[in-house]
Amino acid sequence: MKKTGTTLQHILQRLREETDRCLSGSRLAHELGLSRTAVWKHVQALKKQGYPIASDGRNGYRLLHPPDLLLPGEILPALTTSWLGRSYHHRVSVGSTNEYALSLAAQGAAHGTVVVAEEQTAGRGRLARPWLSPAGCGIYLSMVLTEPLPSRDAAKVTLIAALTLVQSLHRDYGLPAAIKWPNDVLVQGKKVAGILTEMQADPDVVRFLVVGVGINVNQREEDMRGPFRYPASSLALETGHAVRRSPLLAAYLNGFERDYERFRASGFATFLPDLEAVSAVLGKHVTVHCGNEQATGRALGLTAEGALRLEASEGKERELWVGEIHSVTALTT
Ligand code: BTN
Repeated sequence: MKKTGTTLQHILQRLREETDRCLSGSRLAHELGLSRTAVWKHVQALKKQGYPIASDGRNGYRLLHPPDLLLPGEILPALTTSWLGRSYHHRVSVGSTNEYALSLAAQGAAHGTVVVAEEQTAGRGRLARPWLSPAGCGIYLSMVLTEPLPSRDAAKVTLIAALTLVQSLHRDYGLPAAIKWPNDVLVQGKKVAGILTEMQADPDVVRFLVVGVGINVNQREEDMRGPFRYPASSLALETGHAVRRSPLLAAYLNGFERDYERFRASGFATFLPDLEAVSAVLGKHVTVHCGNEQATGRALGLTAEGALRLEASEGKERELWVGEIHSVTALTT
């Protein structure tokens, strides 16, 4: 017998509705038009996915507590998207979700395919840095976008992906999140998330983009020790309590599809006021490393293409397309 997703979803839904008592196997079998053995097999499949289900031959089944796993059964019912996450790949452990998503995209994965892992063993950040991805603590997400875009739009999509997250952290968690151009999400000056966008492109047109989002959710101080160039933190440390990952991920996917659609319909410039409002560097004195070069000056804002506008020391304005901000200092007037 094939364990279909919808039957699994149905059993899960029924178990969720009756967590205070056992749901009998024969009742489930009757509701679903299945044999009791078939119900038992579906329950075993749910247990294998990680759902803590107590089974008692006489009384039936009971979901002990909803796990904070990023399983399709936790995320898909909460999605309001039309294309994002409609193909949803969940892995317990993977090298890198970006790597996995890039290979799916190369094999023709649909626009909006999502890869999520509970753990990454070779998570990667910008500039080939490792991204610590301990099991069950964070969100490690990659989204495949296959619409043809000019290559220069990749940086805009990265900024929009960061903005979606920052706005969700403000709205749903009351956190004063900010974007450190081009891809870091900070809370109180500490990095809680980063975006790594990778692509396959012909000379000017993107064939597909993989937008990788890493969020430190329930990491403790000891989970984040490492040679970081920037102090790191997690949402749990910043809010003072554990944060459930599944509602955050579902809200993020819903929000990103909305924002991406707006970008496609109305353009990047419509995001500039919001991006500047949540900038961690605007008006501050910054040092930006761009390859072997270093630029310093006051961050003035973003261009309509997503480049950083810098007022260099000699008063001239510069636009930086790539780079990494190494120091941010408030200017005293
Ligand atoms: C950075 O700040 O340097 C970017 C970090 C991006 C990490 C995410 S986790 C999910 C996806 N898979 C990866 O290997 N990296 C990205």
